[in-house]
Amino acid sequence: VKIYIPRDSGAIALGANQVARAIECELEVRGIEATIVRNGSRGLYWLEPMVEVETENGRVAYGPVKPSDVSSLFDHNLTSGGSSPHPLLLGRPEDLPFLARQTRLTFARCGITNPVSLEDYEAHGGLRGLRNALALTPEQIVEQVTESGLRGRGGAGFPTGIKWKTVLDARGPQKYIICNADEGDSGTFADRMIMEGDPFVLIEGMIIAAIAVGATRGYIYLRSEYPYAETVLNQAIEVARNAGVLGPSVLGSGHAFELQVRMGAGAYVCGEETALLDSLEGKRGMVRAKPPLPAHEGFLGRPTVINNVISLASVPIIMDRGATFYKDFGMGRSRGTIPIQIAGNVKHGGLFEAAFGLTLGEIVEDIGGGTATGRPVRAVQVGGPLGAYFPPSLFDTPFDYEAFAAKDGLIGHAGIVVFDDSVDMLKQARFAMEFCAVESCGKCTPCRIGSTRGVEVLDRLADGVEPERQLEIVTDLCNTMKFGSLCALGGFTPYPVMSAITHFPEDFRPAPLRQAAE
Ligand code: NAI
Ligand code: SF4
Repeated sequence: VKIYIPRDSGAIALGANQVARAIECELEVRGIEATIVRNGSRGLYWLEPMVEVETENGRVAYGPVKPSDVSSLFDHNLTSGGSSPHPLLLGRPEDLPFLARQTRLTFARCGITNPVSLEDYEAHGGLRGLRNALALTPEQIVEQVTESGLRGRGGAGFPTGIKWKTVLDARGPQKYIICNADEGDSGTFADRMIMEGDPFVLIEGMIIAAIAVGATRGYIYLRSEYPYAETVLNQAIEVARNAGVLGPSVLGSGHAFELQVRMGAGAYVCGEETALLDSLEGKRGMVRAKPPLPAHEGFLGRPTVINNVISLASVPIIMDRGATFYKDFGMGRSRGTIPIQIAGNVKHGGLFEAAFGLTLGEIVEDIGGGTATGRPVRAVQVGGPLGAYFPPSLFDTPFDYEAFAAKDGLIGHAGIVVFDDSVDMLKQARFAMEFCAVESCGKCTPCRIGSTRGVEVLDRLADGVEPERQLEIVTDLCNTMKFGSLCALGGFTPYPVMSAITHFPEDFRPAPLRQAAE
């Protein structure tokens, strides 16, 4: 009998380790033989810790399980398939509507396999993409990735194949593959979930990228707040190295590739690729002017591919099933699937991988189930702290890079944070400016000074001091930041601020008027 208990950060935060200990004790006390597998999460966080038991009819799930539930689960014959139903019995996980409605390509194995078992990984289709890639020329691999339509999942949506082609064509004695795992956006956890739940898919994607561009070294730049991901990644890298998947001759092909995890030190701006490079080189993370692009002069001045975790983790399925298979999902110029992270004040928070094209309303109301508080949804922030706030009147916007841009928003890293009608949008706008002031690297004036002035202006507005004038100043400030900042931190802070002012003008009225209205 196998019992699966997630070791994912989200599940651990909800008590998965205590549940695992309680199950171990119960097995011992009752003299039952069973293997506990610490897998990744399926991403249904309102049901975590979700415990799954392998039965003759496949896996059966229970959740959310507390340590105090464990004894009664055994009383209901947990390990023999639950002959009498337990209140926490969820049935077959793949039949749960939240999972059944998904198209899991990148996350196909997450929550299913043992994250550090290469045998398990291969038994579920792992390494097929790499083996196919090894039979191709670098140009053919780059062509496949370009043809698939894959775009950077970190937020900018730049075509991955074109980035790889630039590095392939660049000259240099040494090239690098860097995975940007500095997942710093509020409401995002897709990178963490896959690194903890299926690290081999990222490793495989990085090896394919290396073969495609002629790189022999790679680094995963991981945010310091992800200690569990660090452990799992290092375990998986060790297993891959011992199995000859990483090292001087990848799967005996003669291609060398070595990979290391490097920890960040907590600055949000180090998720910006050039600040990341500085940090990786041991310097303070400051944004560099582009050009030169990292593709030409990146890590230590050498041609470098920098891709987000999900971009790299999506490559193995493309090389396994082919570019056309992947490209057939999606809409417009947004091809394939996107792992949407549903968070905030929402009933069913979790990770939902789907083809591009679902509307925001479907995601929030239908899939997310509306707010956890049961109050009406008032605003949804899409794309992290630098993303725009969308009101329900824009819920018909399809999840697509261009459709969001057309409504002055962005998909970003596909995190969405839901707010109910108790949210104060003036406070949210102030928070965006304050966040920028705290996290600014200080290199350029619009961001460094503008964000601090922005906080002051919004404070005056809240105090009812010449409100019309403050609105004019903040709008002007946002324009300067948008067009005069060197990177997305200063350049995108105007999105949350201006969307709040545009869509929720009633929250920006002078204080006495607001009190009268309330
Ligand atoms: P960008 O548009 O300047 O570049 C996108 C990527 O394409 C970069 O890797 C760049 O080096 C590469 N690139 C551009 N032209 C190229 C060429 N000809 N050949 C090869 N590579 C080329 O965007 P940037 O500044 O990297 O990122 C901004 C985006 O990041 C925003 O759209 C925002 O949504 C997102 N973002 C994500 C965050 C997160 O935590 N995931 C946080 C903040 C912003
Ligand atoms: Fe640094 Fe802000 Fe300028 Fe970006 S916009 S380079 S974070 S000061």
